[in-house]
Amino acid sequence: MQYKLEFAKSLIQVIGDILTQEEIMMLIEKPKHDTLGDLAFPCFGLAKYYRQSPNSIAEDIASKLTLHIAEKVEPVGGYVNTFLNKEAISTLTIHKILKEKEQYSSLPVTDKVMTIDLSSPNIAKPFSMGHLRSTVIGNSLALIAEKQGYQVVRINHLGDWGTQFGKLIVAYNKWGDEDDVRKSPIKELLALYVKFHKEAEKNPTLNDLGRAAFKELEEGDEQALQLWKWFREESLKEFMNIYQQLGIKFDSFNGEAFYNNRMAPVVQELHEKGLLLKSDGAHVVEVEELPPCLIRKSDGTTLYATRDLAAAIYRQEQYRFTKSLYVVGNEQTLHFKQIFAVLKKMGYEWQEGMAHIPFGMILKDGKKMSTRKGKVVLLEEVIKEAISLALKNIEEKNPNLENKEVVANQVGVGAIIFHDLKNYRLNDIEFSLEDMLRFEGETGPYVQYTHARAASLLKKGNYQYEKVQQLRIHDKEAWPIIKLLLSFPEVIDKAMNDYDPSQIAKFLLDISKSFNKYYATVKILEEDQLFSRLSLVCSVKVVLKEGLRLLGIQAPEQM
Ligand code: ARG
Repeated sequence: MQYKLEFAKSLIQVIGDILTQEEIMMLIEKPKHDTLGDLAFPCFGLAKYYRQSPNSIAEDIASKLTLHIAEKVEPVGGYVNTFLNKEAISTLTIHKILKEKEQYSSLPVTDKVMTIDLSSPNIAKPFSMGHLRSTVIGNSLALIAEKQGYQVVRINHLGDWGTQFGKLIVAYNKWGDEDDVRKSPIKELLALYVKFHKEAEKNPTLNDLGRAAFKELEEGDEQALQLWKWFREESLKEFMNIYQQLGIKFDSFNGEAFYNNRMAPVVQELHEKGLLLKSDGAHVVEVEELPPCLIRKSDGTTLYATRDLAAAIYRQEQYRFTKSLYVVGNEQTLHFKQIFAVLKKMGYEWQEGMAHIPFGMILKDGKKMSTRKGKVVLLEEVIKEAISLALKNIEEKNPNLENKEVVANQVGVGAIIFHDLKNYRLNDIEFSLEDMLRFEGETGPYVQYTHARAASLLKKGNYQYEKVQQLRIHDKEAWPIIKLLLSFPEVIDKAMNDYDPSQIAKFLLDISKSFNKYYATVKILEEDQLFSRLSLVCSVKVVLKEGLRLLGIQAPEQM
């Protein structure tokens, strides 16, 4: 909390000849119990300098300390415990939040650029649960980075290139129907792809045809390109529906195909730097402690890794990133280790700024949700169902609500996103619409509902901050809320450093719980202290809304 610094500064006045401000900052802790104050400084390490017991050092320091933000400083068992002046700090905090509004906790915009590779589904294949996780986690990380002053470039690295498109072209030419594909592109293209594999088991020459078709595609054959382009457009249309429902936008859709004519220079560069080795007719780069990175197959075609190398170099040239994130499932960890290692061998120092942000799986009844073997979970269906369940909830709880459909949308989608982000990303998560949509418990709707409750209090109380009156927060129940509000900047900072939106989700749950407790014990709308209490309510509302925004979730005023 920011008052830690002031505490440290006051300690410097007394023990500055022994410890630096930084050392003091590292030592200050949160007391085990609220009854012991808000900040504690342990004196055990000082015993050897003063040749006194920690107890008497603590007493001595406490008697000399001048700290205007404290109402009490108390030596207890070798600690200097500080009780902050609740009223003064509450007032300062609330004024700060209500003046800065959604800018509260934002850092100034810098010229530091962060590229983020997120979502990145594969053309002609269903948008999987893994892609949903990448989309949701990536979007939140992008929003958090912007809050931290980064200029963020959101890149959807579409899987739109590779041998599978050769196979698809062969399959379409043999069995495809234009109208069917137009009607429901991904379903139809997937069926063709599955059929290709079945037939190829009986007739392996099909695989050769597939490879040949991809080679033609890579060499720019007109007819092959035409088909590929069409598959891509139709698939993208379906993906765009999902992005629209989730409220997510991208700065670039440069997928794997975009790097088609940017790979030869990379291969050439690897060759010139003496890194390219021949192995069974293929070309590889050896990387320490990892399997070699395959760059070129023996038939001359390129690979996923080749395209990622080209993409990394392109992104550095184009955007001059200081950070470059890849939000991609855990199963690709080796791939990214190889890519980063090859770039390092090429001598690119900027690869230090690159990071793979892995995540776990979504399970259904404890099992992986798979798109293979036709067991397709259509994400659009899932979203639709979440929205209709949310609508049902609203019909029961608040049948007179205006804009029911809009709110149901915000709640249904919010529920899906929150359910994902409240878990540490590497954990596998169980998929359950029922759980996601509950209004109580650790859900998105619960946080949204708390926000709406705050909004309704402000409306009932006719609250306007601009008509400012004297602010005095006396309620002791308010203090835990104030402390949470104060910690928002730190929470964001930590979420950024750990690339972990779940810290923001947990913070939102904490503040919602705290606020609902306050609501249950304090009569907010009573004449007495009305303005001050509503000011607290309004600060909570501002922070809840901004926190939800950082997760990519909307905060309806009513629900
Ligand atoms: N399309 C890939 C997949 O679905 C993910 C791509 C991730 N991004 C990247 N630069 N490799 O598995």
